[in-house]
Amino acid sequence: MLVDAFALLEHARRHAYAIGAYDVIDTAMLEGVIQGAERVAAPVILSLAEAHLDLFDEAALMRAVVDLAQRTPLPVAIHYDHGSSLERLERATRLGYTSLMLDASHLVLEENVAATRAAAELAHRAGMPLEGELGYVPGEEGRDAELHPGEIRYTDPKEACDFVAATGCDWLAVSIGTVHGRFRGEPKLDFARLEAVRQAAGVPLVIHGGTGLSDEQFRVLVRSGTNKINYYTALVELAAQAAAGQRRWEAMRSAAVSAIAAEVARTSTLWGAAGQADSACRFAPPLVAVEHVIYHNWTGNEAELQEMQARGIEVLGQLPGVQRIHAGYAERQDAPYRYLWTMTLANPRAMQAFREDPRHQDYANAYFRPWAAERITIDFLHLSNPESL
Ligand code: 13P
Repeated sequence: MLVDAFALLEHARRHAYAIGAYDVIDTAMLEGVIQGAERVAAPVILSLAEAHLDLFDEAALMRAVVDLAQRTPLPVAIHYDHGSSLERLERATRLGYTSLMLDASHLVLEENVAATRAAAELAHRAGMPLEGELGYVPGEEGRDAELHPGEIRYTDPKEACDFVAATGCDWLAVSIGTVHGRFRGEPKLDFARLEAVRQAAGVPLVIHGGTGLSDEQFRVLVRSGTNKINYYTALVELAAQAAAGQRRWEAMRSAAVSAIAAEVARTSTLWGAAGQADSACRFAPPLVAVEHVIYHNWTGNEAELQEMQARGIEVLGQLPGVQRIHAGYAERQDAPYRYLWTMTLANPRAMQAFREDPRHQDYANAYFRPWAAERITIDFLHLSNPESL
């Protein structure tokens, strides 16, 4: 089930374990991650990384991600990984993600602070936590890290304290020696720094570049206060190895799903997340979407009606957290209300921000309210677990 992502990581922080945030690029990876987490009853974060979005149809994959996240009994968050701009994050709030990351760690500190603060404001208006990054973790997921090393910039504990206070970010990705992608040899991690950052920052910490660390390094990472570990390259490598032994696509796919499930079960166990699903479900409230429904009549003419509907879809459909929007009309002419708006908002906080948004207010005052005085507006909460019916 989808749960409040703020509370999910808070549960991990209070119980001193790390949740795996596994980047997925297709439904085989998605199924493997869910199967692996279910096998060991671990809370799980399904991530889609912005850098991977040209590999697949994001909206289509997101439908599958949301659907499986709603159907599993595990507590799940859906994370937008390594977002690059406010525009991309705003779009992500409409696609079903439940937590966001802005990665401005390549910018100078003041620019990172300003961009992360704006992203946190946006995420909070949409009812979602924001992950910021301080320090620089080089490399690219899914590549050999040495090919694109850049320079590691370690997170400074004092800066981390100021960064969290100045930006309002909810989770902090830190740089203590990991790199994205496959590192040849064992990376050297600065655990003392991690512990100091944890104490200074006071928010759940995130480690990027999980691939290639030893079991012992992972254990110390979790003991030193890591609550979310991003993991990708190892999954695609194991999937590819398992698939290579097969001749046909369906056998390759099954082998890849099994390999991913096994690695997710192994890592979730290593990171202490195994067995935490029930307790996290009791702690983290289910995430419920809101259905904003308006029945109305219309005193304007037909052309004005059509313009009102078309502009509404264009303007309101672009606001943060609006996952779906429809205008409609009654099938029968004698219906007490002839016209309909229905839109799905990501959660109650997003609904409140939608009501107050000046773009919404300006549109409603100019195009809707004067000719739709006769109307009923109701906000309905979705059932949190439709599968239980
Ligand atoms: P790896 O690909 O090194 O596991 O890193 C994943 C990651 O950090 C995604 O944000």
